[in-house]
Amino acid sequence: MNIHEAMQQRHSVRQYTDAPLSADAAQQLVGYVGECNQLSGMHLQLVLGDTKAFGGFRRLIIKNAANYLAVVGPDDSALDYSSGYWGEKVVLRAKQLGVDSCWFSMGAKKGSVEILPGEKMRIVVVLGYGAVPGTPHQSKPSTELCANESGDELPEWFVQGIEAALLAPTARNQQKFCFTLLPHRTVRAESLGGPFSDIDLGIACCHFEIGAGKENFSWADRID
Ligand SMILES: Cc1cc2nc3c(=O)[nH]c(=O)nc-3n(C[C@H](O)[C@H](O)[C@H](O)COP(=O)(O)O)c2cc1C
Repeated sequence: MNIHEAMQQRHSVRQYTDAPLSADAAQQLVGYVGECNQLSGMHLQLVLGDTKAFGGFRRLIIKNAANYLAVVGPDDSALDYSSGYWGEKVVLRAKQLGVDSCWFSMGAKKGSVEILPGEKMRIVVVLGYGAVPGTPHQSKPSTELCANESGDELPEWFVQGIEAALLAPTARNQQKFCFTLLPHRTVRAESLGGPFSDIDLGIACCHFEIGAGKENFSWADRID
């Protein structure tokens, strides 16, 4: 599955089978999480086979979850965006390996997560094999999520970036972001507020880059 197919086929899954992650998927994900940490300065961690992490009230929402990505990083709210951006990279790599996921703001019992001084765990992403497949979410019309201040017609790469961003998971499916095309192939990405909207923006930007092609544009005021 290529990364474009992974974006299309990823949907939040809230019910998992008992099957542990395959050795190959686990090994590849551990390696990829390490790469993401090196590039980002985050401290993302993969926790596997922790059946107690989603007990209690969490079990009412996420069934049979035992694996997750702990989105840990420096305790700086400016890094909410990075949490979404880098976490979604892992989500899409997982999907390419046949592993389903769900971003989960209610956290996990973090028994086996390492949180160093000055760090915090912002959110988790549940990972596993879906017992019940997810379904495509309802989307706002693309016209509500983008603007054109370039003075030219929207280029194809921008349209494809928006289409990819529309596939991004957002908290409560709120889709509170806006991408604006500026002159000179520059794009401004903005959060429109709401809970977790900076994490959502990072996720949406990860999708936008894949859809638009990083080589086609530069970000106006967001650099990673
Ligand atoms: C930052 C964030 C937090 C989320 N928190 C939860 C959550 O606590 N519980 C839950 O069931 N889904 C949660 N989700 C999943 C969203 O509800 C889901 O992404 C959205 O409805 C779109 O559906 P899709 O992921 O299938 O495309 C969260 C998603 C994001 C991006």
